[in-house]
Amino acid sequence: MNMKFLSVIIFSVMFFIAACDDQGDPIAAVVTPPTLLSIVPDSGAVGDTVTIIGKKFGSVQGSSSIRFGSIGVSAIVSWSDSSVRVKVPANTSTGNVTVMVNGVSSAGKNFKVLGTVSAISFINDIRPLITSYNCAGCHPSSGGFSVATHTTILTRVTVGNGEGSLIIKKLRGTSGTRMPQGGPFMSNSEIQKFVEWINQGAQNN
Ligand code: HEC
Repeated sequence: MNMKFLSVIIFSVMFFIAACDDQGDPIAAVVTPPTLLSIVPDSGAVGDTVTIIGKKFGSVQGSSSIRFGSIGVSAIVSWSDSSVRVKVPANTSTGNVTVMVNGVSSAGKNFKVLGTVSAISFINDIRPLITSYNCAGCHPSSGGFSVATHTTILTRVTVGNGEGSLIIKKLRGTSGTRMPQGGPFMSNSEIQKFVEWINQGAQNN
């Protein structure tokens, strides 16, 4: 075997190893950001289904996510590498939608949220719910909680965060005994009204 032939072989083997090493680099795969091309339609109301079109979303959702502004979407209808169908989440306003894959976010695309939620009134919407479900029957004092006034109700409310408020967790049954204890329970749309009132500032309006 002559030296020239031998060195060609050695060079080829080294090149092959270097190429394999490069291909296996995990960081190169992670930093490729997804591309958001369009949102169809690019406007809609809360609860409407829209399609987000782009590239490199991944064939399954896994830990990837969609955001409308700062709100993460929980209602994913379908997910593929080039399109994702989602329902417009509550408490969103017009702004950028982004796709996050492997911790890397796409650039944002504007989405216009139509028909903002109407204002919920404590006096006309919330107080009548508390009355009709007879919360006061047990809550002059049960659990150390009184529904007597707007101020006492606020003690179990995190203003601006409906779903994070203890009163909503009790109404949904996600924190201990569901309220009103023993039922009948509030409907989803009644609880949603309560959530929106809190998100809107839980005012004495
Ligand atoms: C039949 C009695 C009864 C009715 C009616 C009732 N509750 Fe309660 N509630 C309780 C009891 C007892 C507790 C304390 C034990 C617990 O937290 O499960 C409690 C706890 C709570 C708490 C948590 C208080 C805390 O700080 O731990 C909230 C909030 C609450 N209720 C809200 C409501 C609302 C709103 C209604 C009306 C829709 C309602 N409850 C109706 C009996 C009742």
